[in-house]
Amino acid sequence: MSLTTIFLLLLYFSLFTFLTTHSKPHLPSPYLSPTTIFPNYQNMLKSFKIFIYNPNTPFTFNSPSQSLFYTTLTLQDSVFVTQDAEQAQLFFVPFPSDLSTRSIARLIRGLRNDLPYWNRTLGADHFYLSCAGIGYESDRNLVELKKNSIQISCFPTPAGKFIPHKDISLPPLASSHAPTNKTTRFLGYARFNWLKESTLVNELSSDPEFLIESEPSDLNSYAERIASSKFCLFEYGGGDVSGIGEALRFGCVPAVVTDRPIQDLPFSDVLRWQEIAVFVERRGVGELKRVLARTCGDRHEKMKGLGVTASRHFVWNETPQPLDSFHTLMYQLWLRRHTIRYVRRESA
Ligand SMILES: *[C@@H]1O[C@H](CO)[C@@H](O)[C@H](O)[C@H]1NC(C)=O
Ligand SMILES: *[C@@H]1O[C@H](CO)[C@@H](O)[C@H](O)[C@H]1NC(C)=O
Repeated sequence: MSLTTIFLLLLYFSLFTFLTTHSKPHLPSPYLSPTTIFPNYQNMLKSFKIFIYNPNTPFTFNSPSQSLFYTTLTLQDSVFVTQDAEQAQLFFVPFPSDLSTRSIARLIRGLRNDLPYWNRTLGADHFYLSCAGIGYESDRNLVELKKNSIQISCFPTPAGKFIPHKDISLPPLASSHAPTNKTTRFLGYARFNWLKESTLVNELSSDPEFLIESEPSDLNSYAERIASSKFCLFEYGGGDVSGIGEALRFGCVPAVVTDRPIQDLPFSDVLRWQEIAVFVERRGVGELKRVLARTCGDRHEKMKGLGVTASRHFVWNETPQPLDSFHTLMYQLWLRRHTIRYVRRESA
């Protein structure tokens, strides 16, 4: 055997070992990239730097998740903030939620004319917070902001206001009352406002396997209700989905009724949503029950376990904790730092 053959054999062998040990993760994981997320996250903690433009006048956000994200990033001594724009991978353009589109356009024109950073990527390494998202406008500044910059909106984002490959959604604020009694009693649980379609609410209300109620008497019984049901029912597009993080946390697999693919799920480039939630086409109670019946037993137990693991990313803290909502959002921004640097034609 020649040395080359030995070398090749060794190479094949190590490749084979690598593939057999790495191609199929043995432990089920709620992550899209279970082997890379944690090393990447550590790199983010060490290296991620953001330059924040000073708003003309100080302001606060009125939605709780936006406000927590903003204050955590700007007011505390965040390790992610740099005063040196040349060090920054991303640029943050803060503006109040109620700023008119004309004023946003003026703000962007100002950045473009006064500083070199916008022109380098036409806004692609910039991000902004807007709960409702911004729509398409004809003004050049707004076009670039909408099409190039990363938008962080609130989940669920109004239709047409979210561009999947670059935009991010903020998970709703979840309460943190842990349930004490976790005896499973219901197949499905929902609050009235979680579901939009009245026929669905009416039919499920008279079904003993389901509990559809208006307002639980206190937070503890709310958490207990969630924990005592196999599935928590939500309706995307009209229904209130803000309980989705609590559902995951307390082991109630979210069953989301929807009439279209959901593109703005929180952390959709980090979590395998198909493994932690069930998506049901809006085709009436029959379809919903069929899907839930298919998802019982081992499949349900597995989803429930992965959901509980994933739920740490939905927790908002006053002082940020590792892998909580704030840090997972930062991680999503970090994944988007390799932006296209547009080549500018200096002359025609
Ligand atoms: C950015 O480009 C525009 C033209 O698209 C130009 O008017 C503006 O002066 C440039 N900004 C800077 C800071 O050079
Ligand atoms: C939990 O709730 C179930 C159903 O209401 C009840 O039968 C059971 O005794 C409760 N368990 C505890 C520990 O309170």
